[in-house]
This record gives sequence, C-alpha cells and structure tokens, in this order.
Amino acid sequence: MKAAEVRSKFIEYFKSKGHTHVESSSLIPASDPTLLFTNSGMVQFKNVFTGSEKRPYTRATTHQKSVRAGGKHNDLDNVGHTSRHHTFFEMLGNFSFGDYFKKEAIHYAWDLLTNVYKIPETKLYVTIHINDDEAFKIWNKQEKVPAEKISRFDKDNFWQMADTGPCGPCSEIFYDHGPQPNCPDPKNCKVGCSCDRFVEIWNLVFMQFNRDDKGIDHPLPKPSVDTGSGLERLSAVMQGVASNYDTDLFTDLFKVMSNVSGKKYSKGHNDETSIAMRVMADHARASAFLIADGVIPSNEGRGYVLRRIMRRGIRYGKKLTEKSLILPTVKEVISKMSDVYPELKKRQDFILSTVKTEEDKFLETLEHGTNLLTSEIKKLKTKEIPGEIVF
Ligand code: GLY
Repeated sequence: MKAAEVRSKFIEYFKSKGHTHVESSSLIPASDPTLLFTNSGMVQFKNVFTGSEKRPYTRATTHQKSVRAGGKHNDLDNVGHTSRHHTFFEMLGNFSFGDYFKKEAIHYAWDLLTNVYKIPETKLYVTIHINDDEAFKIWNKQEKVPAEKISRFDKDNFWQMADTGPCGPCSEIFYDHGPQPNCPDPKNCKVGCSCDRFVEIWNLVFMQFNRDDKGIDHPLPKPSVDTGSGLERLSAVMQGVASNYDTDLFTDLFKVMSNVSGKKYSKGHNDETSIAMRVMADHARASAFLIADGVIPSNEGRGYVLRRIMRRGIRYGKKLTEKSLILPTVKEVISKMSDVYPELKKRQDFILSTVKTEEDKFLETLEHGTNLLTSEIKKLKTKEIPGEIVF
C-alpha cells in the first residue's frame, strides 16, 4: 500500500468515527514560546486540551507536518544512520477533547491496524505505563491481547510535548519486523531492545495533566486523547520493508540522487553512499517544508536549526558528487508532496532560491576555510596550528 493510501485510509477511518479532519498546522507553532517547531499532532490543539480554547468539535484527526531537530525531541544526529529517524516526518493522529478516553482510543487503534490495514495481530505488541492497570485491562480483556504481549515501562510511557504543557501516560503499539542482524542480544530481544526489530508505530497518549514550569502536574479539565502514528513507519509496515527509507516516500528521492551523482542506493546498508543519500533525502524534505512555512536559514533560533540541517545535507551531498544534490532533491520533494501540501508548489520559487543561496554561501565558507587551513598547514614548523588561527 502506497504511503498516500496509508494516509488517506487513516483520515477516512477517523472521519467515519465522527472526527473532523483538521488541516495540518504550520511547522512554526502559533505564538508558543515553549517550542521551536511543531513536533507532533497535538501542538495545534494544546489550548483545546487545557480548556482555554473552544472548537466546534470534540473529535479531530490530522496528518501533521512535524519536525524534531532541536529542543525536547531532537533526532538530528541519528538521521541517516538508522532506518527510522527523521527530522521531518508526518504524524497521523486522532484526538478527543474531553469526549472519549482510553477504551475507545485503544479500540480505534487496534481496529484500524488489524481490520483496515489488516496487520496480523501476531506481529503487534503493546506497552503501557507502569501504573496503568486500566489500560492493561482494556488491552487484555476488551481487545484480547495476551498478557505476555503487554509490557510496562515508566518514563518511556509518559508523554510530554515540551517541559511544560499537556501530558499524560501513554500506551504504545509496536510492530515486530523480525530478527535484525544488528541485535546486541538476539536471544533476549524484546520490545525495548535497541535494535530495529520492534518499532513503535503508534502512541496513544491519555492526556490528563497540564505540567507547569515548576514541574507540577495539574489535572486537565477533562481527560482527553492525543495519538501519534508516524506515516513513514506505518508505510514501512504496509510495504513489507524494515526501513522507512525503503518506502515510496523516499525511493523517488534516491532515484534523483542516483541520476545526478551516478551512485547507487543500497537498501539497508550503512555504506557511505547510502548514509549520505538518507541524510540528503531527510534534510531536503525538512528544508522544503520549513522554508515553505517561513523559516529562513540564519544564525539564531529556528533559522539556525534550519541552517544546520541544510548544511549537514549539503556536506553529505558533497560525499557523492561535486554537483548540487540538494536542489534537485528539494525539487523532487516539491513535486511529490504538493498534492497533499499545496504550500510547497505555491512557494516553490522562494524555496528553491533560498536553498540555492544557502548552498552558495556554505560552499564559499567551506572554500575559504579549506584554503586558509591549507596555507596555514604549509607554514607550520611544529604540529600545532595556533589557536587564534583556528578561531
Ligand atoms: N503526541 C504523541 C506523540 O507524538 O507520540
């Protein structure tokens, strides 16, 4: 099943259960100083959870553009080296604002996964918060998930958007991708193992508290539900591949990179070319979407994070070819994703000119630095370059 269908089936399912389909919000959170970027589906509903904003619906569903690079949820340094880390990703979610709670949230998730996507129950595992006996009972008695497939964790099963704000215990659903060659302990591999065998595909957060700046949790006016399922991970499951990067969300980007560089992407390999292509694919997506939402590369705040993402991408791109790789990759992102996110097409010229300017600036800086270093090395009488020169 293509990612586009995974996305639309999710939204259609929740619409059929009385949820309003709400458009993805911007990657720049509206007047929220606690967050650098929208990092999950619940961000646009933060004030609805706390009760300070009212909406004409109590159930919503979204496919939300999200970035995790800086701040509480920061995946930047892992990107490219694993099969499932991203800076930019899409989060599918369903939300209840004081409407339904644990029983329905768990039922909807299990029903959609096993009856609509038809994922075999044998491949699914769940986790709950260490103290959440109610969730255990619902999984075990209502959905008939065997007790031995339900594990309890403490901190890993408590979700916070940021240091302050709505939060609560959560229950995660994992998919078993089968034994992995990189597993540190294959005999005892289970949910929570550091290898990529058990991958979290859905997080159901039972929103119950609003955490203040002293770390004190205040009960929300009404218990609510916030869920997040990464489209990239779910698509990997639906396409029978172990890595998000082997789904149709990324393979077209690798084709463009291969055409430009003459190098080949190798599925699941950690060779220099494949790592560089994954880094570039991820960072080109993040760059296109962040610039479309108004972030400009700069030396502070959001702009600085974008600059780091772009320059990391360009640097890895240079391992593959002297030609520009980021520009054609960003172009492909725009053409691939504009039917779902029309802002990309609308701001295409601005996105591409911003990428080109940043690439030119970075290459100039690199060239200047490299020339300086080379000439200083030539002058060296000892093995040390003076601190002032390095600075
Ligand atoms: N808001 C739930 C999650 O991002 O996992």
